[in-house]
Amino acid sequence: MADIIRSGNIKRIICLCGAGISVAAGIPDFRTKGTGLYDNLEKYNLPSPESVFDIEYFRENPKPFICLAKELLPGTYKPTTTHYFLKLLQDKGILLRVYTQNIDGLEFSAGLREDKVIQCHGGFQSSHCVDCNEPQDNDRIRADIIAGQETICDVCGGLCKPAITFFGERLSPRFYRTRAADFTRLSIKCCHKDCEEETTLLPDNSRGVFCDKHTSDAASLGVANTSISPSPASLSPGERINESDDISCACDLLLVLGTSLCVAPVSGLVDDVHWLVPRVLMNREAVHLYSGDKDDWSQWPPKIGPDNGFRFNCDDNYRDVLCQMDCDDACRNLCALIGWENELDELVKNEEGSPGHA
Ligand code: OAD
Ligand code: ZN
Repeated sequence: MADIIRSGNIKRIICLCGAGISVAAGIPDFRTKGTGLYDNLEKYNLPSPESVFDIEYFRENPKPFICLAKELLPGTYKPTTTHYFLKLLQDKGILLRVYTQNIDGLEFSAGLREDKVIQCHGGFQSSHCVDCNEPQDNDRIRADIIAGQETICDVCGGLCKPAITFFGERLSPRFYRTRAADFTRLSIKCCHKDCEEETTLLPDNSRGVFCDKHTSDAASLGVANTSISPSPASLSPGERINESDDISCACDLLLVLGTSLCVAPVSGLVDDVHWLVPRVLMNREAVHLYSGDKDDWSQWPPKIGPDNGFRFNCDDNYRDVLCQMDCDDACRNLCALIGWENELDELVKNEEGSPGHA
């Protein structure tokens, strides 16, 4: 992975993050046994731990959420090495996007630009009434959360909450719009030596490795064993999909950091990248593993099952990499291998002590 990044062929990295990247900042994740937030909600007598983010439950009893929100309010915590690693990718100009499920805003505290970050599950940047949708004064909600009390809508008397996505709510239009652009399957050049033709369109609308003319050669070339070459960096720039989002091309490397990948639709992003795009999981545990029927590589074009998942331990794995360790260590190790360790250290050191914002 370090080699292909150092080679300069990787230009559009998507990072998919979860609560694990903020654990080193002192914010517990959700599902780790013992320390995770969901194991520590007994005092609220919730029907299930997830009820704390359930919109129907919130209407009945907003107290558990308010308590949890108080713990997660931005401004209280400092970014981790992993957050600065994301900033380093931005500085290097090879970060296409960060899709974070976190609501702590630490990506912004680390200096990531608004346009680079999709807060898939929203955040504290705005608030509204859950009944009439009336936007609410954010400072007022914030003060109420700190005081541990609910905020009542002036217009209809309904309950108000920050723009955090609850179970049962749709993700933001920006999430869907950006996903459509970032995960587009672009055309790529044929990987036959010296051929500049576009590759063949496969039945599932993804792209093959060779053009029509060279496709018949492919089986004999042993494409099934190509590891992660041909480089997905041979993707050519696609069209602009949404002017305001300044998106011109799709992903050529997916990094998944600190998430159990058990909440849809975010978990599905892992399987949305093109099947030639390398995927790296940096997490304490191996998650989202492939379990369905094997793909069929005996025919050409090969048949890739729609049910993907990581294939770390499969014989036919050619692009999935597992770094099973704390993500701060994984990021530091990767930087050391690429030769970016000092730059990472500088970021961590320079911005240490700078106050967080969201
Ligand atoms: P989870 O708590 O489900 O998963 C965190 C993952 O990070 C686990 O697999 C941990 O093993 C791993 N982990 C913990 N500490 C780590 C570290 N220092 N380095 C590397 N890995 C570490 O959290 P999410 O996947 O983010 O929804 O949860 C997804 C969503 O579920 C959240 O966004 C939240 C929750 O319901 C909302 O807030 C709406
Ligand atoms: Zn209202």
